[in-house]
Amino acid sequence: MEKHRLLITLFGATGDLAARKLYLAIYRLYKNNYISEHFALIGTARRPWTDDYLREVVLNSIKDEIDDQAHAEEFASHFYYQSHDVNDVDEYHNLQELALELEEMYQTKGNRIFYISLSPSLFPIITQHIKGSGLATEQGYNRLIIEKPFGNDLNSANELQEQLQVSFEENEIYRIDHYLGKGFVKSLLNLRFSNIMLKSIWNKENIDHVQITLAEEVGVEDRGDYYENSGVSKDMIQNHALQMLSLVAMNEPKDDEPESIRQEKIHILKNLHQYDSVAELQENVVRGQYGASESNEYKAYRDEDKVDAESTTETYFAAKVLIDLPEWEGTPFFIRSGKRLNGKYTTIHVQFKATKEGVPGNRLMIEINPDLAYRLYLNQETIGYTNELKQIELSYSPDEKEINAMPADYERLILACIQGNLNNFNHWLEVAHDWKFVDNIQRLWKEAPKPDFPNYPAMSSGPKAADDLINKQGFDWFD
Ligand code: BG6
Repeated sequence: MEKHRLLITLFGATGDLAARKLYLAIYRLYKNNYISEHFALIGTARRPWTDDYLREVVLNSIKDEIDDQAHAEEFASHFYYQSHDVNDVDEYHNLQELALELEEMYQTKGNRIFYISLSPSLFPIITQHIKGSGLATEQGYNRLIIEKPFGNDLNSANELQEQLQVSFEENEIYRIDHYLGKGFVKSLLNLRFSNIMLKSIWNKENIDHVQITLAEEVGVEDRGDYYENSGVSKDMIQNHALQMLSLVAMNEPKDDEPESIRQEKIHILKNLHQYDSVAELQENVVRGQYGASESNEYKAYRDEDKVDAESTTETYFAAKVLIDLPEWEGTPFFIRSGKRLNGKYTTIHVQFKATKEGVPGNRLMIEINPDLAYRLYLNQETIGYTNELKQIELSYSPDEKEINAMPADYERLILACIQGNLNNFNHWLEVAHDWKFVDNIQRLWKEAPKPDFPNYPAMSSGPKAADDLINKQGFDWFD
C-alpha cells in the first residue's frame, strides 16, 4: 500500500467539523497505513490554542476508535497549532516558516493540502494569501479542499470561482460534497455499469421513473441564521440531491478518468429541464415548512432560534425533474428532501415498467443511509395450487464486519484528495448548473403567491401536495 507524504494546513482547526469528522477521518487513514510518519498537520484558527491543546482535542475526538494508546499519541504528535488571522498577510509568512520546518522534519516532499473549513466568505482571502505569501509549494502538489456552500446562487458562485481561479487551477480544487463519499453513492457507477443486467435496461424504454429521497428527522438545530438564507433547496437539493440524480442518469463514461466521469455528469446537469412559468413550477414542485408536531413535542420551524416568526423559508422540497435529452425523454426523476420528517433515510428507487397490465413493474431500491442495502423486487408465482403472481424481494446488505471496515464519507474523500483523485468532487461546471436549476425555482417562487406555511407537522411524512405529485405518476413514495 502506498504511504503518502503530505502536510495538511487546516483553516478552522478549532471548529465543529474538525472535531466531529476530520480528525477521526485522518486518524483512520493513519491507522490503515495510508499516511504514516511522513505526515504533519498544521491547525489554524483565531483562538490562542497550543500544540498540546490541539493534540488533546484530537485525542478526544478519536477516543472511541483508539485501540493502541501509544500509537494514537504518536498520531497526535503530528499535529501543530498556530493561531492565525486570515486577513493578516504576515501571518501567512509565519505559516510558511512552520510549514518548511515540518516539511524538513517529516520529509513530506513539498506536498501540501490546504483544507478550508471556515465560512465560504473567507475562501478568496485565504486562497489569495496562500498564493501571494508563497505558502503554496513549488516542489510537490498544492490541493485545496473546500466545503459547501459554494456561493448562494449562480452569481455569487461565479464570483467566488473567479477569485479562486486566480490562485488555484480547477484540477487543484477539491469541492467536497460529503454525499459523494457515502459507500453506496460512490458505488452507483459500478452497480450500473458492471452489471449487464442493469446496464442493458437502465434507459427510458425500461424505466418508468426514479425516486430519490433525502429525509431527515432533525430540524434546523442551532443553524437558524444560515438556514433562513438557504432553505432545503440550497442546503440539500442544489448539491446532494442533484449529484445523486446525475449519477443515476449519466451515460457510461468512456473510462474511469475524472474528466470523463465529470463530463457525463455535467451533460446531465446542463440539460435539467428548467420550469418556465409559475404554473409549470406549481405543477411540478412542492415546497413545505414544518409546523409543531402533533404532540407538540417538537416546535414549528418559525419558533426555532434565529428564525423569522413569519419565515417563508422552505424546509421541505419535492419535485418532478425532467432531463431535456433524447435518452431520458419522458422519464421523470422525483427528488425530495426535508427536515423534521418521520425518519432519517436516504434512498434511491428505480421503478421499471411493467411487462403487461396488472403486473407490477420490477423495482430496484438502493438504501444509502442509515442502512445500506440493495433490494430488487421481482414477480414470482405464488407457490401452491394457483398461478397468481406475488412480489418477492432479493436483497443484499453488507454484514457488520464489512460495515465496520467501510471508510466513513470524509475518510474516503480526504484519501481521494491525497491520491489526487477528483472523481468524487464537484467540478465547477456541475456546481454552476446545479445553481442554475435552483436559481430558476427561486425566481419563480418569488413570482408565485406566498406559500401557506406551515403545511406539514414536524415528524410527519411531509406535505400532502408531495403525495399528490407522485400519485399523478400512478405511484406512491416508496419509503
Ligand atoms: C448537510 C446539510 O450538507 O447535510 C445539513 O447542510 C444536513 O443540513 C446534512 O443535515 C445531512 O447529512 P447526512 O450525511 O447526515 O445525511
